[in-house]
Amino acid sequence: MDQLILNDLPPLLDMKTNSPKSSLDSLIQLLYALVILLLGLMAYLFFGQIRSHKSVADNTDSSAVFIQLDSNFTHVWTAPSDWRMMYLPAGQKELVLYGRELIAHTSDYLGPKGSVRAMSNGMNCQNCHLKAGSQPWGNNYFAVESTYPKFRARSGTIENQIKRVNDCFERSLNGMKLDSTSKEMQAILAYIAWLGKDVAKDIRPKGSGIFKLKFLKRATDPEKGKLVYDAKCQSCHQSNGEGVFAEGGKSYTYPPLWGMHSYNEGAGLFRISNLAGYVKYNMPFGTTYEKAQLTDEEAWDVAAYINSMPRPGKDLSKDWPDISGKPFDHPFGPYVDSFPESQHKYGPYKPISDWIKKHKKSKS
Ligand code: HEC
Ligand code: HEC
Repeated sequence: MDQLILNDLPPLLDMKTNSPKSSLDSLIQLLYALVILLLGLMAYLFFGQIRSHKSVADNTDSSAVFIQLDSNFTHVWTAPSDWRMMYLPAGQKELVLYGRELIAHTSDYLGPKGSVRAMSNGMNCQNCHLKAGSQPWGNNYFAVESTYPKFRARSGTIENQIKRVNDCFERSLNGMKLDSTSKEMQAILAYIAWLGKDVAKDIRPKGSGIFKLKFLKRATDPEKGKLVYDAKCQSCHQSNGEGVFAEGGKSYTYPPLWGMHSYNEGAGLFRISNLAGYVKYNMPFGTTYEKAQLTDEEAWDVAAYINSMPRPGKDLSKDWPDISGKPFDHPFGPYVDSFPESQHKYGPYKPISDWIKKHKKSKS
């Protein structure tokens, strides 16, 4: 077949190969190539325009899928790729990987039936720090290496990474401190440092930590939140909020949201603003910042419901040595302002937040 076609074409081929290429010919070829490139670029730009116009239109149509165009959610920071670990010094890569394993499967090593030491409640760090702390707006660790050590008003001291990790062990995992010289602590620190390795000092890259939602005008409402919970959360976290154990009972398939095995009253998620921001862009499980499933109201209300339920206490008498440093939604008094505890816990938050801003300004 090929042979046949070739045989049919000798004059043309001959003509091409025999005639010496003049410089004019190659100039024309170059021009053709340029024109084709230019056309391609124009087509790309033109269709790109249509696409982005379409998503703007979709966004105003209530039946359309929710498309985020908010600049908060474009070009968010992401974790360094794994292949770059090959540049780490010998032994360091193993330590980083062990750290990631400990974040993802904490309970297997340090939970009630942990293989290293029993010192926490059965939850994994990853239950709250999604994808081992690498998910944008999923309570990730992108800004830890760049911002610690730092002063934290909760303890009234300058805290390093070890203290911060142990805060979560003692509060979020309702457990004990991890020895700072242990291989496990060194591994967790190495992994956190790896995630933040490209972030400049004092910078919090876009997408770090938990998203801050706009305040509602009203107080958050646990009763409305229960309706959201029953419809969208209890299938996994259960109607008693206690979650579901994995086979073997070493850790959770669906972690608890309240009850004796959940985070305690000193934990970051016990502040409704943190919980609402976490839930909005990460729950129901599988949700990401690119496609939220709850409205802001639903996120605030379901957070109010979850944090109205019983959970372990904690001696908080040493927290906030200077009470003027308490955040607007810290649920326990005394406060420098005169808003009641219930308003600090459930809102409306704006009056409190405004008061705090004004007070801070007049001080400085
Ligand atoms: C129940 C949920 C939960 C669990 C489980 C949890 N954390 Fe956290 N963690 C939080 C929240 C919420 C914050 C942010 C608190 C805030 O900003 O006030 C946080 C903050 C942190 C920070 C500081 C982040 C920053 O940018 O300042 C580190 C480090 C951290 N956690 C480590 C861990 C480690 C290590 C574990 C496992 C041993 C763990 N956490 C388990 C909820 C959790
Ligand atoms: C499809 C199952 C599923 C549904 C539905 C779901 N979650 Fe979760 N949730 C999970 C899983 C799984 C995790 C732990 C994620 C991990 O370890 O990677 C989690 C973690 C959490 C956490 C942090 C860990 C903890 O236990 O405190 C909170 C808070 C949470 N979910 C709240 C909610 C809320 C509120 C809803 C409803 C709006 C919801 N979830 C719906 C599966 C689900």
